[in-house]
Amino acid sequence: MSFSTFSLESIVRPNILSLLPYRCARDDYSSGILLDANENSLGPVLDETRFHTPTDNPIDDHLNRYPDPHQTLVKERLVKFRGVPSTDHLFIGVGSDEVIDLLIRIFCVPGKDKILITPPTYGMYPVCAKINDVEVVKVNLKVEDGEDRFQLQNEQKISDTLSKNPTTKIVFLCSPGNPTGNALNHSSIKALLEDPNLHGIVAVDEAYIDFTKEDDNIGSVAKWVEQYPNLVVMQTLSKSFGLAGIRLGIAIGNPKIIRLMNNTKAPYNINTLTSKAALSALTTESISNMHEKVSTILSERAKLIISLKNIPGIEIIGGKDTNFLLVRILDETHRSPSSIRARWLYRELAEHIGIVVRYRGNEVGCEGCLRITVGTPDENKLLVKNLSRLLGENVN
Ligand SMILES: Cc1ncc(COP(=O)(O)O)c(C=O)c1O
Repeated sequence: MSFSTFSLESIVRPNILSLLPYRCARDDYSSGILLDANENSLGPVLDETRFHTPTDNPIDDHLNRYPDPHQTLVKERLVKFRGVPSTDHLFIGVGSDEVIDLLIRIFCVPGKDKILITPPTYGMYPVCAKINDVEVVKVNLKVEDGEDRFQLQNEQKISDTLSKNPTTKIVFLCSPGNPTGNALNHSSIKALLEDPNLHGIVAVDEAYIDFTKEDDNIGSVAKWVEQYPNLVVMQTLSKSFGLAGIRLGIAIGNPKIIRLMNNTKAPYNINTLTSKAALSALTTESISNMHEKVSTILSERAKLIISLKNIPGIEIIGGKDTNFLLVRILDETHRSPSSIRARWLYRELAEHIGIVVRYRGNEVGCEGCLRITVGTPDENKLLVKNLSRLLGENVN
């Protein structure tokens, strides 16, 4: 099936296609004397001396009421900010993690359908697949040294894999990648979307997109959703907006897919405190604050790269497009990657210095690798000082 003959109805699970979504009285009437949802009419129970709600008044914040199931205000701001055609093209969930799980539940029949991932990649795709009893097919990214390290394999290789696995319903691409830190070329994503052996959708996870420089061949593909009905783009407020704690993820796609996501989600998935925080993050002023924070992180990343390059035994192999770097720790001769040394550093940093990085040495193409988030200037200095000291020592 090519994207031009894409038929959503033929790839969605029949039970989801025929699902009558849960409806509540608030879908019809959302104001007045609300005696429809068995809430506590006397108001929320909170220690108001300690707990501050967004307006500082729990009654005004309506915390005793179920939240708006449609979250139209948040969606309208996101649509404006991300240049999405309409709120019908946008779904919001409890982090992108909810979006990943929902897509699998909507498209994949447990025990029959498959997803395709491109390791090294984000760990939640296979975890959600496993939970849903969905098989995972893998086509590794290119991992050899060189300009196209961590890009997709050639079109033919992915196409052949899809042809051998015709029940593959979702291809998850992570761009910019985690743990690679590098964005995928637009041309390779386009080739996949147009592959006649694809009988499902492509979900492009753009969790780190605000750290990526927009140019002709990388950057967000959200603007393609009108052209490609088989594309879903995932984004989040967890990274560039610094709001991982509120759990708000986004899916942008064809309105028919978005409708199925809305039908399938739990009715009140986005809580009132989360939507208030999101509304406050999406004002014009807050968005420019986000951009400032991103550029500070990018200039800190540039400084961190210079400092790390001066430490013998470290090689930076990823992180061109994200707020983290993927660094390879070499053995004592500085000739080959050493996962033993990387793991030792990981423990030393955590247990003796109190700096927690992520060991990624078990991932495909990441032997000897640590993934390091760009911290504050002081945190980065402390990290560099200790990496440099520790790498001057012997492992044992
Ligand atoms: C690639 C990628 N996708 C999704 C997520 C999860 O995002 P959220 O916090 O929106 O669930 C992460 C978090 O680390 C990530 O790295």
